[in-house]
Amino acid sequence: MATDIRGNPLSCDAATAAKLDAAFLKFHTYQVDPIAALDEVIADQPDCVMAHAVRAGIIATATDKAFDAELRSSLQQAEALAGKANGRERRYITAARLWADGDLHAATEQWGLAAVENPHDLLAVQLAQLGDFFLGQSQMLRDRVARVLPAWRDGMPGHGYLLGMHAFGLEECGDYARAEEEGRRGVALDPRDGWAVHAVAHVLEMQGRAEEGAAFLRDTAPGWSPDNLFAFHNWWHLALFRIEQGDIAGSLALFDDRISAGGFASALEAVDGSALLWRLWVLGHDVGDRWSRLAEAWQSRMADGIYAFNDVHAMMVFVGTGDVGAQNEVLSTLERAAAGGGTNAMMSRDVGLPLARGLAAFGRGDHAGAIAHVLPLRGHAHRFGGSHAQRDVLSWTLCEAAIRAGDAAMAQAMVAERLATKEGSPVAQGWAARCRALGHRAAA
Ligand SMILES: [Fe+2]
Repeated sequence: MATDIRGNPLSCDAATAAKLDAAFLKFHTYQVDPIAALDEVIADQPDCVMAHAVRAGIIATATDKAFDAELRSSLQQAEALAGKANGRERRYITAARLWADGDLHAATEQWGLAAVENPHDLLAVQLAQLGDFFLGQSQMLRDRVARVLPAWRDGMPGHGYLLGMHAFGLEECGDYARAEEEGRRGVALDPRDGWAVHAVAHVLEMQGRAEEGAAFLRDTAPGWSPDNLFAFHNWWHLALFRIEQGDIAGSLALFDDRISAGGFASALEAVDGSALLWRLWVLGHDVGDRWSRLAEAWQSRMADGIYAFNDVHAMMVFVGTGDVGAQNEVLSTLERAAAGGGTNAMMSRDVGLPLARGLAAFGRGDHAGAIAHVLPLRGHAHRFGGSHAQRDVLSWTLCEAAIRAGDAAMAQAMVAERLATKEGSPVAQGWAARCRALGHRAAA
């Protein structure tokens, strides 16, 4: 029986196992291109069940409707070979099947179990972490990695990637000091490790350390940016820091040169582009005709969405373009999903639909209506996934909506929340100044 580089069992031969390791390394670092590397393995060994199962898992966790046919093709080939798969490989097949059928929780648990059974199964930890991320399960982002950490030692292949994943979990749980330390260790072990870089960027974002964050991402970019499938997201984080630095032109330049560089070929890229333009537009900045490229990207992914988080970002764009027909299409998609089954039904019902309604209300100038829809979601918005930094768009929108509605009490409450964690933020300070003006008018 062959194993991968960390001793995890594979049912293929040793030469194929080595090729799989090379493909998996690309996935661990998000380097271009793990799918192409797996396709080369499959071209040589069409019956390599792990290649098909992992291919399905990687595609599944892109949460992109446009890749659905590819996902199902890989899954069918993996299932056809399941009879010769070992127990670990069968878990991977089961996980991908569950995800494709819409049960993201159960799929994530399968990858999690694979890691419990094989604590050195870095690939399973990574797929489970992506699942926990898309489910907004902060605690599991941390604890699923913590489960396996005692089995690891310095110098083991991939240890830094595990530290990067743990760092992100620690950050999402608010343990910023440990997160920063472990994230920086991961970056030092492999400067290509965009996920470890990302964990540190999140710490700096959450602590309002925009100057440091911008410098950190700029200084580390030569490591994580070239030929990297995740780079657009770290550039998005830099664009957020640029907003906080008051550098709106710099933020838009990152949209033009980096975030949109891939033409929004994946939903994840479109999410970041949409979220950046929404933040700028909500603040009243002119984003030009940038919405239009995103509108094209979302139009092809509208009907029967698979992930409410994506649908809400499509709504941002159609509010930006003022396309009421497309806004209503997004609402219809979310209504159908909410009435359906699987994890996305819960996400659509609990968060996606009311949030999309709130964004649409904001778009037509009904700021009180936007507050009525969005405010009750603050406590459970994590149910539709993403990071704290991504879901910060709710708070961002509420601050602006409350000020525009002339609701001094609500505006003061929303802005007070932001100042409590990001006192030095120029954006928060701008809202605070407008709040004070509202209060003076109310008192006059
Ligand atoms: Fe992020």
